[in-house]
Amino acid sequence: MSTSTAVENKHKEAQDFMPINGTDYLELYVSNSKQAAYYYKTAFGFKSLAYKGLETGSREFESYVIEQDKIRLVLTSPLKSGTDVGRHVDKHGDGVKVTALWVDDATYAYEEAMKRGAKSYMVPVTEKDDHGKVVRSGIYSYGEVVHVFVERKDYKGTFLPGYEKWKCDYQPTSTGLKFVDHMVGNVNEGKMNYWVDFYANVMGFKQIMSFDDKDISTDFTALMSKVMSNGNGRIKFPINEPAPGKKKSQVDEYLEFYEGEGVQHIAVATDDIVKTVADLKNRGVEFLTIPTTYYDVLTDRVGEIDEDIESLRKLGILVDRDDEGYLLQIFTKTVQARPTMFFEIIQRKGATSFGKGNFKALFEAIEREQELRGTL
Ligand code: FE2
Repeated sequence: MSTSTAVENKHKEAQDFMPINGTDYLELYVSNSKQAAYYYKTAFGFKSLAYKGLETGSREFESYVIEQDKIRLVLTSPLKSGTDVGRHVDKHGDGVKVTALWVDDATYAYEEAMKRGAKSYMVPVTEKDDHGKVVRSGIYSYGEVVHVFVERKDYKGTFLPGYEKWKCDYQPTSTGLKFVDHMVGNVNEGKMNYWVDFYANVMGFKQIMSFDDKDISTDFTALMSKVMSNGNGRIKFPINEPAPGKKKSQVDEYLEFYEGEGVQHIAVATDDIVKTVADLKNRGVEFLTIPTTYYDVLTDRVGEIDEDIESLRKLGILVDRDDEGYLLQIFTKTVQARPTMFFEIIQRKGATSFGKGNFKALFEAIEREQELRGTL
């Protein structure tokens, strides 16, 4: 693979002792779950799925669950002061708390992870309602992020026990987002290899790629990244750490404003990025822009592609190629008050990499945003 550099042998093969079927849901702790749900529905094309709150007997927290194809987001806010969710929001702003992984046996996954050195977040708990039962367990990852294992083979309900179907007449049309392609974490300087080892040793993931500051640097900023993947490749977690640069890197800025390690971006896949991005723009989603000169040399860099270059130029969609094919990608601006989390929209046409050829153009675009914020 042209975009991968040396892969350490010890992490080459995934030991798939913990088979994961896919991402079950992502739960964000936010300051206003009701308005966040409206934003994601309106701007990104999610639909109402399930609800938990005062009306369902939940006195402390309110959660709205929205979905689009295989993507499920849970947006949770506290209903009173002094809660752990409220403390999380006060410290970090809005952000991802739970990456839930869909497994066949949540008790087994938990026990295997614990045996290998995980820190427990939630012992296996069985929850039941009229639609069956769900078993969930959880372990800590970087920062305050947790992985919750979800076993739902005996459940026929809308989402999880404790939630009711969220009946809502307002159901925006989809923008074509299909599934979570990868989810990137920012960790403290010097901690990337610690978390690479965690995913290898505790969860049986393998390292599929690595980038260092020679790959990912501009005049001002640098970062290093390693990509961890589970055995079947459905879960991919790149881990970034800042590398010393002349000024503050985007990872440094994230760590400062998030006040710790956390999820930097969620990449969601589409089958038609031109249509999806045009739609998202019409709905008010803001994207990073790159100089249109990027497109003057695009064909020289990536060869022939199916898409019309003029459409890509108009929308600011980036292209990169590896040995297996090419990919198209674009990045939103950060989506909450703090300059922390953002989304990537990605369409893969064979390529299994992450757009290394775009890093420079992309980072310069981020730096222009950082400059406006006075953090560069
Ligand atoms: Fe990405």
